[in-house]
Amino acid sequence: MKKKVLLMGASGSGKTSMRSLIFSNNPASLTSRLGATIDVEQNHVRFLGDLILNLWDCGGQDAFMDSYLSIQQSTIFQHVGVMIYVFEVETRNMEKDLVYYKACLAALKKFSPNAAVFLLVHKMDLARGPKLETLARKTKELKEASGDAEITVFGTSIYDESLYNAWSRIVHILIPNASVLSRHLAKLAAACSAAEVVLFERTTFLVIATSTPPPPPQIASSVASASSSSKTNGHTSVGTSREDEDEVDPDPHKMAPTRYERTSELIKAFKYSCARVREEFHALEMELPEFTAVLDELTRNTYVLIVVHDPTIGTRCIQHPSLA
Ligand code: GTP
Repeated sequence: MKKKVLLMGASGSGKTSMRSLIFSNNPASLTSRLGATIDVEQNHVRFLGDLILNLWDCGGQDAFMDSYLSIQQSTIFQHVGVMIYVFEVETRNMEKDLVYYKACLAALKKFSPNAAVFLLVHKMDLARGPKLETLARKTKELKEASGDAEITVFGTSIYDESLYNAWSRIVHILIPNASVLSRHLAKLAAACSAAEVVLFERTTFLVIATSTPPPPPQIASSVASASSSSKTNGHTSVGTSREDEDEVDPDPHKMAPTRYERTSELIKAFKYSCARVREEFHALEMELPEFTAVLDELTRNTYVLIVVHDPTIGTRCIQHPSLA
């Protein structure tokens, strides 16, 4: 099963950087060396056995954008599963960015009306004002520009786990049996007396499913209190407008990073360190007074993290083949 993912946005907004971090295991510090993407760079990423992500990284220079929206329109915008549009939080030309974005949205509606649309307010580390308010303001602006299209907005940066949060949620909608996976993980958690079980994709270390829904992280409550969350006509986004306050999203933390995505980020950094000393990352075990954790291969394409709070259960019990 092939899913086409369009990665679009202005030149320099950070598209190739995020792709190289998530799919090529490169560190954020090396992204400044990346050159501008010429036309479209296509990658096929095998994701979870049969699921192949067909990633189209579309160079954002004006000449390329003009071509995508004219002669290349049907090639670019047909059979799209997801469009990810990247905006720099402190862009120098939001007006122009929005003109191109609206044109892309219209083309997507024409050629792939069922495609999901995710907007990333990227380089949040460079936001001048308080991050939550800035994100809320940007979200409102993007929602207005999107008309009646269903959009989901994330604030992201390559320097923290927010990027993993966004991409985990994006990829999650492409996985056909995600809820079944969660049910199986809950069974595995019960079999190991585990407090939580998390499934990661092997190459990207994106979170695929968890045995329990994540508890509201700190940032979530601040998002919820600093701004209102709204869900209208299937739009889900964080906004600051007063009129949204009656319709509070019951699950505001779904937009905020959780500790699982922090794990993705840390493991990716650790894998990179292993590669630098020519070692391969295989598994991780931790036995601490408060908890025992095992991160190990589950299938050819996945890793599983099992966290147990019972001090009488050691790592060997968790790794017992009968649980596999
Ligand atoms: P085109 O290929 O021309 O379309 O550009 P692009 O969108 O692929 O941009 P690219 O990934 O090449 O990134 C441009 C610059 O932004 C690089 O120097 C990156 O290091 C930097 N960058 C990417 N993401 C972030 C981020 O989250 N924060 C900061 N501060 N810089 C970032």
